[in-house]
Amino acid sequence: MDQYRDFAFIYDELMDDVDYDRWVEYIEEIIKSEGAEVQNILELACGTGNLTIPLTKKGYDIAGIDISAEMLEVAMEKAEEEGVQLVLLQQDIAELDFDVPNLDCILCACDGFNYLTYDDDLEYVFSKAHELLKEDGIFIFDISSYYKLSKVLGNNTFAEKREDVVYMWQNYFDPEEDLVEMELTFFVKNEDGTFDRFDEVHQQRAYETEDILEKLADAGFRDIKAYGDFAFEKPKKDSERVFFVGRK
Ligand SMILES: C[S@@+](CC[C@H](N)C(=O)[O-])C[C@H]1O[C@@H](n2cnc3c(N)ncnc32)[C@H](O)[C@@H]1O
Repeated sequence: MDQYRDFAFIYDELMDDVDYDRWVEYIEEIIKSEGAEVQNILELACGTGNLTIPLTKKGYDIAGIDISAEMLEVAMEKAEEEGVQLVLLQQDIAELDFDVPNLDCILCACDGFNYLTYDDDLEYVFSKAHELLKEDGIFIFDISSYYKLSKVLGNNTFAEKREDVVYMWQNYFDPEEDLVEMELTFFVKNEDGTFDRFDEVHQQRAYETEDILEKLADAGFRDIKAYGDFAFEKPKKDSERVFFVGRK
């Protein structure tokens, strides 16, 4: 499936309304509230490094993994521009192959796990994360909620007209499979004023919070928590983002 290929080069522009500073702050608040000792972090589905770079600047030692060579290329370019050194690996996290043990923290932000559409793949990455963490290590991730994928995004069309990019985003939710298929069409302006069109199809799985909590427990995690929308409270029915925390 063609995901995050040409899209990678305009991803940051289209995500310019996302408050990544607040995201980093919230992750640090979770670490603090857990009393976890974190120096090194393995970040799964790190994309263009929107969390990887600021967390590196804060002094954490991070390795980032993503399946998209293009997203990693953008991350590397940004890191070079900002004078930050990143360790990035191109891998499918459904087959996560990382053998540095005793990690302090494993992180996966902004839908990485929604892209794992099979139970087996999610269960594998959870048990691998558990294996890689040190005793007492912390696993932090967030996903788009079942509510968001089925009701807000699902069976809806979005469009936006910007100066340099015009895009359309048509979504179809399949309640039998809990899958949302997103058809994205982009028109990106060239220097001569013409537009190039490209298309991508993304598939995300909608997971119920209870299902994730059960899978985390099955993988061996303890003190598991689910928080809604950047707060320290249980997710509400209409929370769009659910954060999960588990300790080894
Ligand atoms: C919405 S982006 C989030 C990127 C980044 N975490 C952020 O917050 O900006 C989702 C990322 O998941 C990555 N991804 C999707 N499926 C993956 C897989 N099976 N293995 C590794 N990365 C994957 C995509 O390439 C993309 O970079």
